[in-house]
Amino acid sequence: MVVIDPTGVRFTDFKGAPLAKKVEHLSWSPLMMEKRGFKHFMLKEIFEQPEVVRDTLQGRISLDTGGVALDEIGIPEATLRQVRKAVIIACGTSYHAGLVGKVFLESMARIPVDVEYASEFRYRDFILEKETLVIVVSQSGETADTLAALRASKDRCAAVLAVTNSRSSSIARDAHGVLYTHAGPEIGVAATKTFTAQMTALALIALHLAQVQDRMDAAARIAFIEEFQRIPHKMEKILGRAKAVEDLASRFLPFSHFLYLGRWVNFPVALEGALKLKEISYIHAEAYPGGEMKHGPIALIDEKMPTLAIVPEDRVYDKMLSNISEIKARNGTIIALASEDDAKIHERVDAVLAVPSADPLLMPFLTVMPLQLFAYYIAAKRGADVDQPRNLAKSVTVE
Ligand code: G6P
Repeated sequence: MVVIDPTGVRFTDFKGAPLAKKVEHLSWSPLMMEKRGFKHFMLKEIFEQPEVVRDTLQGRISLDTGGVALDEIGIPEATLRQVRKAVIIACGTSYHAGLVGKVFLESMARIPVDVEYASEFRYRDFILEKETLVIVVSQSGETADTLAALRASKDRCAAVLAVTNSRSSSIARDAHGVLYTHAGPEIGVAATKTFTAQMTALALIALHLAQVQDRMDAAARIAFIEEFQRIPHKMEKILGRAKAVEDLASRFLPFSHFLYLGRWVNFPVALEGALKLKEISYIHAEAYPGGEMKHGPIALIDEKMPTLAIVPEDRVYDKMLSNISEIKARNGTIIALASEDDAKIHERVDAVLAVPSADPLLMPFLTVMPLQLFAYYIAAKRGADVDQPRNLAKSVTVE
C-alpha cells in the first residue's frame, strides 16, 4: 500500500506496518514531459533522436582506445569473455531493435544470435546453454511476456542482461545486469526514440563483446566509433528535410495498403516502418525481406499497393534494385529510401526519400527516421490520435 499526501509518501504492508523503500532519483525534468511546441509527443520524440543517440553513447566509448566502458552493467568481464552465443528476447518495437542487434553482434563480436518473441519463447521447450548471454530488450521494463521469459532463463544461461529505458523496473531489477538507454521519457505510445536508443545500446554491447573476445582490433573499433559519432549529425540532416516526408505523406494519403521491403540490417527497419504505420494510422502495411518477395507478397503488387523500399548502397543494393524492377514490371509504385549520393535511383522509382550515407551497419539509425516521419504525417493528416492510438498501451503488463 502507498499513501501519497502533501507531507510525503508512506509505504505499508496490507496490515499497515511501515515498509522501508529505497529512493531513486530520476534525472528526468518536468520540461521533458512537455510537447515544447510540437503538435504531438511522437513528433517531438522523433526529433529528439539525435540527442538520444549522443546521450546513450556518452561516457561509454573512448576514441583513444576504441574501448567501450560498460562496467555499469554489473556482469563480470570474465563471464562476457566466455559467451559463445546470445539470445535476444523482446516484444514489439524492441524485438525489431533486437533483430538489428543480431546483425551488430554477429558482424562485430562474431557470435551466433537468436532473436525471440518473448511470448513465443516462454512457452517453448527452449534450450539455453551455459555459455549463452540472454539479452532482454524492453523500453518500459515491465512487459509481462519479456519479464516471464527473463525469469524462465535466469538460471539456465551465463547471464541475463537487460536493455531498458526504465530505472528500477521489474526487468531491470530481475536481470543480472542492466544497460540503460538514455532516451528520457517517451510519452507517445508508438516507440520511436527508445528504438534508436536500443539500437545504440545493442551496438555498444556488440562492440564491447568484440573487444573482450578479441574479435575486432583497436583500429577497427576506433573507426566504428568515429562513424557512430557522426550519426547524430546525419540524423539532424534528415530531420531538416521533414517537410519533404510530409509532402510525400500527403501524396500517398489515399492508399490503404503498403508493402515495406528491406534486406540484411535494414529488413528490421522495414518491419519497424510498417509497424509504425499500422499502429498510428490503422493502415494495413506488411514488411518482408526483399528476397522473400517472390514467395508471396509479389502477388499483392498492383497500382493500389505502393512499396517503400529501403535501398542504401550496401552489400544488398543490387538485390534491392532487382526487387524494384520486379515491382515496376507489375505497375507497382515505389518510394525508395536511398542514399543522397545515389543519383541513379531517381529514374527507377516514383519518389525518393534521401538519407546521408554512413557505414552500412549503422544505416538503420538513418533509414528508420523517414519511415517514422512518414507514418506520423499520414496518421496526423488522417486526424488519428497519434499519441494514444486505439487499442494499444505503452506498457503491456498483462499477457
Ligand atoms: C507495447 C508498446 C510498443 C512496445 C511493446 C514492447 O506494445 O506499445 O511500443 O514496442 O509494447 O514494449 P517494451 O516496453 O517491452 O519495449
